[in-house]
Amino acid sequence: MAHKFFQAKRPWSKYKDFILNYYLDPYIPKVAKLGKPILIVDCFAGCGTFGDSEPGSPLIISALVKKWQEQGVNVRAEFIEADPENFQSLQQAVLPYQEFVTARHGSFESHLPVLAARAKQNTVFLYVDPYTVKGLVFDRMKEVYDQIRQASASVELLLNFNVVTFMRWGLAAVKRQSEFPLELGAEADALADDPAESVEMATLDSIAGGVYWREIAQDSLATFQDKLDQFINRYLDELAEPFSFAASYEVKDKYEHRVPKYVLIYGTRHPDGIELMNDAMCKARQQFLGTRFKKNALFDDTPEEELPDTGQLKRDLLEILGNGRTLTRKQLRGHAILNHFCRFQAKDINASIGELLKAGRLHSNTGKSRINDEVLLNASRFDSSTVKSGNPARHTGS
Ligand SMILES: C[S@@+](CC[C@H](N)C(=O)[O-])C[C@H]1O[C@@H](n2cnc3c(N)ncnc32)[C@H](O)[C@@H]1O
Repeated sequence: MAHKFFQAKRPWSKYKDFILNYYLDPYIPKVAKLGKPILIVDCFAGCGTFGDSEPGSPLIISALVKKWQEQGVNVRAEFIEADPENFQSLQQAVLPYQEFVTARHGSFESHLPVLAARAKQNTVFLYVDPYTVKGLVFDRMKEVYDQIRQASASVELLLNFNVVTFMRWGLAAVKRQSEFPLELGAEADALADDPAESVEMATLDSIAGGVYWREIAQDSLATFQDKLDQFINRYLDELAEPFSFAASYEVKDKYEHRVPKYVLIYGTRHPDGIELMNDAMCKARQQFLGTRFKKNALFDDTPEEELPDTGQLKRDLLEILGNGRTLTRKQLRGHAILNHFCRFQAKDINASIGELLKAGRLHSNTGKSRINDEVLLNASRFDSSTVKSGNPARHTGS
């Protein structure tokens, strides 16, 4: 195998695989309703499989494409890989799926024009998982996002960003390298990049999609973790322009770690996508917490701040419906998801709405507490003459 990355899958990689798989499975039939063929592009595909026989993203995607093709959905996948050796392994790995998937040799950048052209006829999902931070040139990627957005009814992005390496390079570039807490080095992931390398400011600007990172790196009052948070939020703001919604999920190796191995960044323009990704990220978080904390009938040692606060959720639901506003259950849930991204799954929000209905603190236009997504809800006694409605606002950050 060409790179030690592919010798064995690292334990924390399972979270990005989980989210990819858990999201794509319902995403494919959902966007099939848009009536266009679906194209899933793994832009930095890798070998297809790992030395320990664990499946890589191309095999995860191929299995889902096969499943939905067999159920009559028009979905295909393309896998782009630049390294010749990795490409050979990739071709072998996806051979059983060749009817539905295509492996393409070359760089993601060189395939961009063809991809953008194909986006005219397709609903597109981009998976971007390079192992080097320098592979993520924002402006080059934004060209694709924009072209795809102009051409396509739906475009989604899931991107893996090693923000610790980026900010460490950023600190060095603004001559503050001594502010990097060296003990955090072991928590981060530096398999492919050299975190001690000196990287030009202009290169960092092109990765970040602007110069905003410089001010963050120079902020003498912010801790390294604060700088990461600020940087992620600004990066999400940049993405919210082409995508309208962007959110992030930090993947750590251990709960106690202060910095993530990597951050998964998600962008979409599809309201149903937000809900599906919220559920996927919630589940991944619960799995992660489950590996660290014990939950059984007698005790649950999960820290309090990690336990979803349904009291707060219910207060928020009532507030959203303030001033006599009326929303369908789906619209109300959409607002709640944006306000609490990655905290509550859709089913938990529905359950809280049901409890508020039973307690008489919410009212439905059917008068029932068992309702579907289209039923109208009002915080005061239902009065159709004062109906106001609205869609969820734009949201960035998690
Ligand atoms: C992190 S690995 C991908 C792992 C894969 N997502 C998985 O889960 O199995 C990144 C891959 O991108 C490839 N690569 C690097 N630069 C590239 C580029 N510009 N275009 C396409 N592939 C690239 C590397 O050779 C490597 O195989």
